[in-house]
Amino acid sequence: MNDLIKKAQQLHSLTLEEIIYLLQQKNNEEELAQAADIIRQKYVGDGIHLRGLIEFSNICRQNCLYCGLRRDNKKIERYRLNDQMIVEMAKKAKNYGYKTVVLQSGEDVFFTAGMLADIVKKIKEMDLAVTLSIGERSFEEYEILKKAGADRFLLRIETTDEKLYDKMDPGMSFINRRRCLADLKKLNYEVGTGCLVGLPGQSMESLANDILFFQQIDADMIGIGPLIPNEDTPLAKVKSGDFSLTRKMVALIRLLLPEANIPATTAMETLQPNARTIILCSGANVVMPNVTEGDYRRKYALYPGKICVADTPEQCRSCMGNKISSIGRYISTDKGFRQRNI
Ligand code: SAM
Ligand code: SF4
Ligand code: FES
Repeated sequence: MNDLIKKAQQLHSLTLEEIIYLLQQKNNEEELAQAADIIRQKYVGDGIHLRGLIEFSNICRQNCLYCGLRRDNKKIERYRLNDQMIVEMAKKAKNYGYKTVVLQSGEDVFFTAGMLADIVKKIKEMDLAVTLSIGERSFEEYEILKKAGADRFLLRIETTDEKLYDKMDPGMSFINRRRCLADLKKLNYEVGTGCLVGLPGQSMESLANDILFFQQIDADMIGIGPLIPNEDTPLAKVKSGDFSLTRKMVALIRLLLPEANIPATTAMETLQPNARTIILCSGANVVMPNVTEGDYRRKYALYPGKICVADTPEQCRSCMGNKISSIGRYISTDKGFRQRNI
């Protein structure tokens, strides 16, 4: 085995230069994936955590260059679910056997922290873990939501290259994004972050720095996805993020953050059928099946070719069950909090 991969497997530590070298090297994808799969098995086991995703609003005040929900996109049909619909979908998620629901939206400030707190409280009564993915808010708002019972928060840093961040997310700032992640940690959320692979102008060095950043902030979850160009955004003409590079990122993250929860992301499967199964065998241990109902899942159009838009939550549940048994793994029956062994 490559000495650096062996080092990563044993010490869970590599220098910036070593990570760059492994990302750049050709023909090491399978070896990295196999090494990561062993570490995944050792630290987080064979159980796969399913988190039911509720996409409750596609209204966003931000204008990220890559995202179909950006405020300047006039082509998208906007929607917002009401609290009853959200709670109803969570109830159904519970009935499909999910132990966690993820409430995701654009940055829709119509939903005040108080309104969201009431929704969180109702869902917590069902004995579900609640993950929020609603973008940037103040410490005080995050605190209200934590007190209401929210367990986790997903906020990708997207890229740790500050200049690139500020270019890709106009009107937002890398500093504030990092402040949000620090506030969430302070408030004892399980904190999920991650990055996009394939942003125009992104270097291998910046991807390697992303991994070191995840280690520095001791991220509990890390979601990595390829950029999928959306026709209705300023990044319409860029290339999709590279599948192999994204897979190598996932594998390296498992080697360097062995206890983290790592999803096999939906965007991967948009690039390649069966990608989530491949990624689950390359270090990942989480999947987020969609439980949003009806036409709303089509309208939550971050990028084209999003999978499952014509499927029902039941179909996604059984589809994932089949995929998971096909690789000899099983659906975890606990809530899937981060385990701490090291
Ligand atoms: N608004 C919240 C935020 O930005 O954190 C949560 C929802 S946002 C739609 C969730 C993630 O979608 C972002 O973190 C971004 O990485 C991803 N995303 C947006 N546009 C994408 C695209 N064109 N291709 C792949 N992923 C994309
Ligand atoms: Fe809004 Fe999030 Fe999309 Fe940025 S990535 S435009 S914040 S939904
Ligand atoms: Fe939705 Fe496969 S996960 S149909």
